Amino acid sequence: MKKIKKLSKFLTIIPIIYLLSACDKNVTISNYNNHIKEIKIGVTLYNQDDAFISTIVKNIEEIAKDKENDGNYKIIINVLDARGSASEQSSQVERFVSQNYDVICVNMVDRTTASTIIDKAKASNIPVVFFNREPVEEDLDRWNKLYYVGAEAEKAGEMQADIIINAYRKNKQMVDRNGDGKIQYAMLEGEPGHQDALIRSEYCIKAMEKNGIELEKVADDTAYWQSAQATAKMSKWINTYGDKIEVVFSNNDDMALGAIQALEGQNRIKNKPLVIGIDGIPKALEAVKKGTMIGTVINDSWKQADAIFNLAYKLATHGDMSSVQGLEKGKYIRTAHTEVTIDNVDLFLQKSTDK
Ligand code: BGC
Ligand code: CA
Repeated sequence: MKKIKKLSKFLTIIPIIYLLSACDKNVTISNYNNHIKEIKIGVTLYNQDDAFISTIVKNIEEIAKDKENDGNYKIIINVLDARGSASEQSSQVERFVSQNYDVICVNMVDRTTASTIIDKAKASNIPVVFFNREPVEEDLDRWNKLYYVGAEAEKAGEMQADIIINAYRKNKQMVDRNGDGKIQYAMLEGEPGHQDALIRSEYCIKAMEKNGIELEKVADDTAYWQSAQATAKMSKWINTYGDKIEVVFSNNDDMALGAIQALEGQNRIKNKPLVIGIDGIPKALEAVKKGTMIGTVINDSWKQADAIFNLAYKLATHGDMSSVQGLEKGKYIRTAHTEVTIDNVDLFLQKSTDK
């Protein structure tokens, strides 16, 4: 009996090792069983170092493991990092196609070049779920097996404005520190051409103006979603403008945290600007709790991961796509946002430690 046990252990290990070596890195496999059908989902990322993207991936892997425990399918998730190279991403898609993946999930390096990826997938009849970096509509209309999962970027911008407007109405001096009746602001932008950067900035400013708040733009620049680049930009602004900036709107949390780092330990500035981000990553929630950040807007990485995985699973198992919840125009899923300030941050801090 002992021998049989040992042998069966050995037999389960062989296919796992085989799969790990055959399919690049980050393969999730558990509950291997010869009688269970296998589905293969390929994921290619614009940059795995991105704080928000790496959270989405972690969530997808967790959700897939949970689903696998239902025992219906063995689920392989193979995650590849394109490290900012569109041509590398294109070869990754080719690799998934040549290895007969059931679905390919693409977080595009360059959202304007989806057609190359679409043509490759379509020729082999492999559906594609794009996420976070939205292809243009004409590209998504090229085939009926293309999907997009992302967030409502307009709302994120409007919610940032709402948090600042509420703070202003509660205590004018806290925001308009020089008392000139206007809000002097700086905008840290994500990435030129990224839908979330463009739309968030635009709708944030529009919402401030719609509410009759007078604004004066002191500075704006792109920091490519990255904390370190934001620290560099903010340091430059501090040197140039001193304490003229009253609010820093940042297109995401990582850059907001970078700006805060530049502000910390600055004695040149008596009145530090209020800093606001988007995403709700754990470090940002902690900053809101500590009071170094006035607020953030949750970009729901769990719901997005859930939507990406559910679409991929339904496609791979030839399920009924009309039963997918929240699917707009047969191809879009956009998750809602939530405002976070000191008033409700505990609720979200709790959730992020639960996961
Ligand atoms: C997120 C950013 C992230 C970017 C990557 C945005 O939706 O808010 O944090 O860097 O997507 O594409
Ligand atoms: Ca002012």
